[in-house]
Amino acid sequence: MNILGIESSCDETAAAVVANGRILSDPVASQIKLHAEYGGVVPELAAREHLSHVLPVVRQALDEAVVRADELDWIAATQGPGLPPALMVGYHVAQSLAFALDKPFIGVNHHEAHLYSPWIDPEAGCLDTTAFEPNVSLIVSGGHTMLVLVEEPLKHRVLGGTIDDAAGECFDKTAKLIGLPYPGGPVMDRLAAKGNPAAYEFPRPLLKDPGLDFSFSGLKTSVRYFIQKHPELVEDSSKLQDLCASVQASIVEVLVKKTIRAALKTGVKTITASGGVSCNRGLRQSLKEACESKGMQLRIAHGRYCTDNAAMVAILAAWKIQAGALPQTEEEGIRAGWRLEQGLTG
Ligand code: KG4
Ligand code: ZN
Repeated sequence: MNILGIESSCDETAAAVVANGRILSDPVASQIKLHAEYGGVVPELAAREHLSHVLPVVRQALDEAVVRADELDWIAATQGPGLPPALMVGYHVAQSLAFALDKPFIGVNHHEAHLYSPWIDPEAGCLDTTAFEPNVSLIVSGGHTMLVLVEEPLKHRVLGGTIDDAAGECFDKTAKLIGLPYPGGPVMDRLAAKGNPAAYEFPRPLLKDPGLDFSFSGLKTSVRYFIQKHPELVEDSSKLQDLCASVQASIVEVLVKKTIRAALKTGVKTITASGGVSCNRGLRQSLKEACESKGMQLRIAHGRYCTDNAAMVAILAAWKIQAGALPQTEEEGIRAGWRLEQGLTG
């Protein structure tokens, strides 16, 4: 069974071909340079860029997979959540292809695609379903931060999420305050690796709260006040590294401690992590140490599948189709505010 998946929920135009559960191709056209000029993703520009990239990326995915359009059995696309003008491009191109080729179409929840991405074995290019264990999953991206309990494949329940900014948004916004280019997350990660995480003290929001929700907007504000008081810090490269390391330490500590707390509360022994922020080296290292100390197994999405991609979309679609998912009707549109709870398949 050949599936074409398309992803365009934010600033990455991606397509992938999955054949019998194996990823054959997954090109991504990134818009990072375009949005860097504005310090964040501009939805209207993202949509225009998706429009010019989507067909070449689909063509590239088919060519690299050596699969003709008429050999596709299903077409899948991200249906939500995401930026409406951006989502519409990939979703409607996918629906139109399905219509023209007379193939079934399925829409996928972007977070659900991230949720199962840690189970993609990058060597084999397929889901390592035999290794599946009930787990608590941390999804950390630019738009969302949530903890999800996955009791069995395709059955999950959201345990907590951010009540304001997402962790990636916090990285990007604090980086902007410090004068770093967009997207700030990876830049901060690089600078933090050379800095002292204990140099400056920033709040650990909601850490003392026994719940599993997150809040990152206050942290951003405290960084803003701190820099206003000490503007000289950002001029000195070693102090800037310390500042990045200290901000990162605060974000990472909250993410890791809450994730471990969720696992202890639910009694699962496996933790997974996905989404752009799960590329962060400080987070990966800290999760590894915390899991080792608790005797828990850790699976973090492979670097290639952390940030937005279409392989995770096509592979989840394949799994759902195998589990009996039905094609969607042509009247259905995007679901920009689609929450993961509503994506329950079980
Ligand atoms: O999952 P993703 O590609 O897109 C969304 O669905 O949001 O995540 C993008 C986010 C951005 O906020 C970016 O700064 C952050 O992930 N990010 C990082 C790192 N790499 C990407 N944050 C911290 N450290 C990184 N290494
Ligand atoms: Zn994402």
